[in-house]
This record gives sequence, C-alpha cells and structure tokens, in this order.
Amino acid sequence: MALYPPSPAPPVAGSSSKNEKLIFAPSPDTPLSSPAGQAAVAARAAAHTAKVAAGIATDSSSGTSTPGRAGQFLQHESDGGLRKRDLDATSPISQFHAWFAEAKAVGKIAHPETCTLSTASLPSGRVSARMVYLKELDHQGFVLYSNFGTSRKGDDLFGAMGNPWAALTFWWEAQERQVRVEGKATRLTAEESQVYFDTRVRGSRVGAWASRQSAILEPKGGEDKEDDGRAQLEGWVAEAEQRFGRGADGGEDGQDDPQIPVPEFWGGLRIVPERVEFWQGRQNRLHDRFVYDRVEGEDADGKATWTVKRLSP
Ligand SMILES: Cc1cc2nc3c(=O)[nH]c(=O)nc-3n(C[C@H](O)[C@H](O)[C@H](O)COP(=O)(O)O)c2cc1C
Repeated sequence: MALYPPSPAPPVAGSSSKNEKLIFAPSPDTPLSSPAGQAAVAARAAAHTAKVAAGIATDSSSGTSTPGRAGQFLQHESDGGLRKRDLDATSPISQFHAWFAEAKAVGKIAHPETCTLSTASLPSGRVSARMVYLKELDHQGFVLYSNFGTSRKGDDLFGAMGNPWAALTFWWEAQERQVRVEGKATRLTAEESQVYFDTRVRGSRVGAWASRQSAILEPKGGEDKEDDGRAQLEGWVAEAEQRFGRGADGGEDGQDDPQIPVPEFWGGLRIVPERVEFWQGRQNRLHDRFVYDRVEGEDADGKATWTVKRLSP
C-alpha cells in the first residue's frame, strides 16, 4: 500500500550513507544542524517508521509549536476558512484581484507579484520553471514581460513546435494562500509592450536590448583566462548604449534622451486563464481549495463564464 507522505527514517547524525537527508522537514525551532535537532528528527522518524511497519495510523501533520514537527497552517481557522460563497462567482480574475489587494495590504509580503512561470517544451514534454514578476492584470489575463528571442520560455512557447500552455504559481506566505493559473500565452503587440518598456529605467531598457537572455556567454580569451563570460555581456551593453545615444545634456537627467524602441524579441506575454485555483491553508493539511474552470464559449454579452468547484486538499 502506498504511504502518504513517505517518511523513511533519516540516518543518524554522522552516518555516511548516500541517502543521508540534508533537509528533512525540520521545523524552524529545531535546526537540523544541531545534534539535538538531528537526534529529535531521527527519533521521530524512526518512531513513525516503526508505527507504519506495525500498521498503526500516523499523523504526519502536527503542531507548529512542537519542535521537530512539520508546520501547521492555522491562520484561517478562527474565521472558518474559505467558503465558496466568499469567492467572486463571476470571474477568477476579479477574485485574484481581491486576493492580490489583500496580499499587498497586509504589508508582510514584499513582492506579491512574484510568481513562478512554468512552460513545457515539445515534443519532449520537458517542463521548465522560473520566477517572474506579474506586471499587469486585466480582464483578459495575467501579463508579464520578458525576452522571447533567446530565452527558454520563448522557445517553449513560441519556438518551432511552440506550446502556448503555461502556468503561473503565486505563494503568499503571510496569508497562507496559493494561486495557480493555467492558460494559453499570447504576445502583446509592440505598441502595448512599448507602454510598459517606457516606464523602465534607461539601464533596464538598454539591458533588454543587450542581453540575449539565456544564451551562453563565451569567456574572453578562452576558458582558462580571468573572464568567465561577463565581458561579452558588458560589450553588448556598451554597443547598445552607443546605439541609443543620450540627450543634448549628455543624459544628465535623462529628460531629453531619445526614446528607445522596444526590441522586437522582447515584450509582454498575456496568459489567458482557462483554470485558476485558489488555495487557503488550513489546519491538519485540510486546506480549502476552489478551482474555476472556463466554460467553452461566451455568454450573451460576450463574457467568459466559469464553473467553481471545491477540491479535496
Ligand atoms: C524574483 C525574480 C523575478 C524575475 N522576474 C523576471 C521577469 O519578470 N521577466 C524575466 O524575463 N525574467 C525574470 N526573472 C529571471 C527569470 O527567472 C529567468 O532567469 C529568465 O527569465 C530566463 O529564463 P528562461 O531562459 O527559462 O526563459 C526573475 C527572476 C527572479 C529571481
């Protein structure tokens, strides 16, 4: 019978086993690096393994305040967690907007716009993921900006065998909330991208022109020389700097610098959602999860319609 979660005993401190656990779900108050922490974790895991072997049910989730135990999601117990009636029934975008505003308002989440963008390459199906910043939200979807000429995401999404399916994942720890967005990606027009591009400081606009994102940088003078490839990037930056020039005052305040056009290989990406999940952490891993799925077609007003279902944690 499969066990969930699998929880084999970590070897005792000092063991040279290949399977030695470098990280084993330690709670913050029991540093694994301390001998006491290692002993506590090893003892607990051994007890767990013995119980499993004896066929006794174990509770793998346990109190935050207990040293050596996995943490708890407790914040939303007192207000009864998340109910379907708390959600915007019409659109996950409106619901996302509400949660995002709350994430900003709590003040403990430094950059709630930080998320993971996942893409998959065809025909291999190999997935890659990277952090990005959500820059805009509109009624069509979620917008971020990137290089689509040389980056891996660009190749996955728009390359020869382009696979437009993409996912964004947000985690707002202070509120114990996760949001997962799945949909197809489309590029913004150059005009739309230019509007955002113009808001970036000059160095970042020049940098967008200079960087062949994710291309390998070749060390100057060969592998055994001092430079590790950074010089090639700096050379491209210097070329781009020269290409776009500065204003009459030499760029002192940047006011009369000429406009830098958005590169054709760079710009906005909109993920038009087909599925959005809102996840609220609860005690004992019995989290609240609601998923919006887009219904095919549009309503009489040309708007997307959605079903909302509760998922098992
Ligand atoms: C917090 C954070 C935010 C980032 N935001 C962006 C972003 O908005 N756009 C972007 O192109 N890269 C961003 N990056 C860099 C990407 O993670 C990644 O290195 C880059 O996009 C190349 O990835 P790729 O070749 O897999 O497409 C960010 C990195 C971090 C750590």
